[in-house]
Amino acid sequence: MLPQEFLLQVIQANPIESVAGSYVQLQRAGSKLKCKCPFHPDNTPSCVFYPENNSFYCFGCHVGGSVITFVQNIESVSFLEAVKMLAERAGMTIPANDRSMAEAKREEEFKRRLLALNRSAARFYFNQLTGADKRGLLYLKERALLPETIRKYGLGYAGDKWDGLRQAMHAEGYSDEELITANLCSRSQKSGGIYDRFRCRVIFPIFDLKGSVIAFGGRTIEKDGEPKYLNSSDTPVFKKGLNLFSMNFAKKSQSKRLILAEGYMDVIAMNQGGFENTVASLGTALTPEQCRLIRNQRFEEVVVSYDSDAAGRNAAMKAINLLRAEGLRVRILRVENAKDPDEYLKKFGPDFFRRLIENAEDAVSYLLDRCRDGIDISEIGGKNIALQNAVKVLSGLDNKLERSSYISKLSKEYEISQTELTEAVEEQTGKRQRRAHRQEQQAVINRPLIRDTVNPDANEHHREATAERWILCYLLRNPEMLPQIEARLAPEDFVTGLNRRIYSALTARAAEGLPPEQTVWTEDFSAAEAGYLAGITAEYDQVEMPEQSIEDCIGILKQYRMSAAPADALSDADFSAQFARLAQNKRGQI
Ligand code: UTP
Ligand code: MN
Repeated sequence: MLPQEFLLQVIQANPIESVAGSYVQLQRAGSKLKCKCPFHPDNTPSCVFYPENNSFYCFGCHVGGSVITFVQNIESVSFLEAVKMLAERAGMTIPANDRSMAEAKREEEFKRRLLALNRSAARFYFNQLTGADKRGLLYLKERALLPETIRKYGLGYAGDKWDGLRQAMHAEGYSDEELITANLCSRSQKSGGIYDRFRCRVIFPIFDLKGSVIAFGGRTIEKDGEPKYLNSSDTPVFKKGLNLFSMNFAKKSQSKRLILAEGYMDVIAMNQGGFENTVASLGTALTPEQCRLIRNQRFEEVVVSYDSDAAGRNAAMKAINLLRAEGLRVRILRVENAKDPDEYLKKFGPDFFRRLIENAEDAVSYLLDRCRDGIDISEIGGKNIALQNAVKVLSGLDNKLERSSYISKLSKEYEISQTELTEAVEEQTGKRQRRAHRQEQQAVINRPLIRDTVNPDANEHHREATAERWILCYLLRNPEMLPQIEARLAPEDFVTGLNRRIYSALTARAAEGLPPEQTVWTEDFSAAEAGYLAGITAEYDQVEMPEQSIEDCIGILKQYRMSAAPADALSDADFSAQFARLAQNKRGQI
């Protein structure tokens, strides 16, 4: 455990507005600051920062907590790593010989060893290309890759032996457990035997930004081999949705423009053709984290170059919204007469491909064109449907100038007056905003009705959980009332687990005189739990809390406990209270 005083010093030394301000664009709103939430696609600024207690909370996705939680979430790091980063930021040194730091060091050591294993494995696969079995090398030649491209990407080959890699890595001192954790070997369900995962495949190592090998993809060299590509699952050193294939090379390019493709081979072929500013999203749909990675690498424009089939078009539509939400300019490249960029380059060469890039349509025009797919706009009915679709697209554009230039273009194409089109778009924007607003409000009102995953007990005990949240909120606002409440309410009176833990932490540390929310900003509470607590204060921000309502809440918890406990387990005082309540009940038997 890190000493609590140290944590508080770290928090104090890092005002949330200046830490957050280095990742997102903050707007002032009274004593608070706001931004579009970096943790979910957000059109309204729903993430709020509270400088007075160095906390934040998103009303859309319910992420929240201290400045440490913010860094944990935005950097996808552990609590300790976040503390370390913030301590460094403030020029503080972490107390030595701390137990959790020692644990973190062990974890880091383990990760380092997995990375070293991955590098050894990549080297093994690379060497296999020139081994006795030349099928891998010939496959890559067939795919028109030059020797220097193969070397640049460290491509390799896994032959058909069941334990080729395993034997080689044993010889280098790696254990089966490490091979399985790195997802390079698997244990057979039936026999319990351990075997290489990648066999009869060409191997694509995946590098992170620092050039470490964090994972592998393997393409079968057999005609109908299944699956076509086998990828590493998540491991302690690899999280799929957080990385982009070839970003280690793309980030070195001087260009502000990034080309985003679907496949490993597309990216490699483009690189060979002289386009180094190219990445692929690794066999998953593009994630918001990947979009943020693109922006953090200082790219300003993304040219989406997906396959020309229906799946590619659908994926492109989704990618457009995610990329634009990160503030990136987006254009859509249409690969014609080839199924993907790899095939296009092979058929037509880099010069034609460059022209495709230059002529790529901007994403909004692309979306507007899609509005009339399959619709005959020479007919009045068809034209109306297409126009309605287009109005929806335009109402999603935040930038007024951008919006009005598309309106003027569209009004010519559809032969409709600009004023009318503008009105329709504004009406739709209003609807959209009202809907978003209503949804936000509903989310707050329905909060206890949404399945609660952070405090799962609340799903069975809505009434009690709500009472507990009120009490916690009241205490956060009125810490001076803690002794009075504590005298009447023991942690065991809390019905749901998380609320009980928060209350215990509040009471246990009350003597230290800390601001109450800070008593739970420790590693005993996960990032999600910290967010939950920040949410309690933020959501009831404007709500009055008269003392009587707290009395009612205490009553609800007491009542629950009494009805749940057998008589002889009750304290004498509780038993008398229960009896007194019954005696007052006029409808009783006596
Ligand atoms: P494609 O099926 O379009 O393959 O999958 P491709 O890139 O054109 O491959 P080649 O040219 O036939 O070798 C696009 C991407 O989707 C992922 C891979 O990342 C692939 O590059 N994918 C595809 C998988 O992860 N698993 C699969 O079985 C298939
Ligand atoms: Mn292909």
